[in-house]
Amino acid sequence: MFFGNDIFRLDRVDSTNNFAANLISSQLCQNGTAILAEEQTAGRGQRDQIWESEPNRNLLCSYILFPDNVSVDMLPYYNWMLSLALLETLNFFNIDAKIKWPNDVFVEGKKICGVLLENQISDGLTKSMILGVGLNVNQIEFKYDNATSLKLQTQRDFEIEEVFKVLNVSLNKWIVLLFTHPEVIKEQYLKGLYLLNTNAKFKIEGRVVIGSIKSVNHLGQLLLSIDGEEKLFNHKEVEFIHL
Ligand code: BTN
Repeated sequence: MFFGNDIFRLDRVDSTNNFAANLISSQLCQNGTAILAEEQTAGRGQRDQIWESEPNRNLLCSYILFPDNVSVDMLPYYNWMLSLALLETLNFFNIDAKIKWPNDVFVEGKKICGVLLENQISDGLTKSMILGVGLNVNQIEFKYDNATSLKLQTQRDFEIEEVFKVLNVSLNKWIVLLFTHPEVIKEQYLKGLYLLNTNAKFKIEGRVVIGSIKSVNHLGQLLLSIDGEEKLFNHKEVEFIHL
């Protein structure tokens, strides 16, 4: 076991990712250490957004990894592995989810989970990684229409601790595959990708275009086919406009 061996359980914290960063600086953690909080007072999302979550209702956790000086080329595989573990966790509770590139988890067009990865890199090598997970579990009212939770999808309550355990088991499975057969991680990630090989609308440089997702490359960039031409995009360059 690796993920979930060593767990910090907190009632309240600003952000589990911040707590993880402090543990790394003070060398008080190990590979796979998890931080699980009941409440965050300053939860952080992607693109400097705030991650809001009602206290005690959702899974708010961060994992720390020391990937043994992994080259930056391997970073997307960690992102893909986490997405796959989240899909598998939801699947365990009979929820069919998809990954909206790069790592949002969606169910029936609504976001159920967000991920915030923060890496400490020096000389092209990864010294430490923080994998932050915000999975909506028992919350049923959201500020935004396009959010959902395990409870909204299944009409029942969940033990957050149980969801966390299932996620740890799944992460422990996928990390082994990452070490032994990274190509399988990419293959499975593509299978779980929302809108793969499907014509859909995207906003690129302020213009709406019809494109089709073909793949992702070793840097995690999205390969889109637009008007018969394939182009690579970074996270902030593409907006999905159908959701
Ligand atoms: C997103 O914007 O989709 C990413 C959201 C990530 C939220 C999680 S909650 C646990 C961890 N701590 C944080 O402050 N953020 C991540």
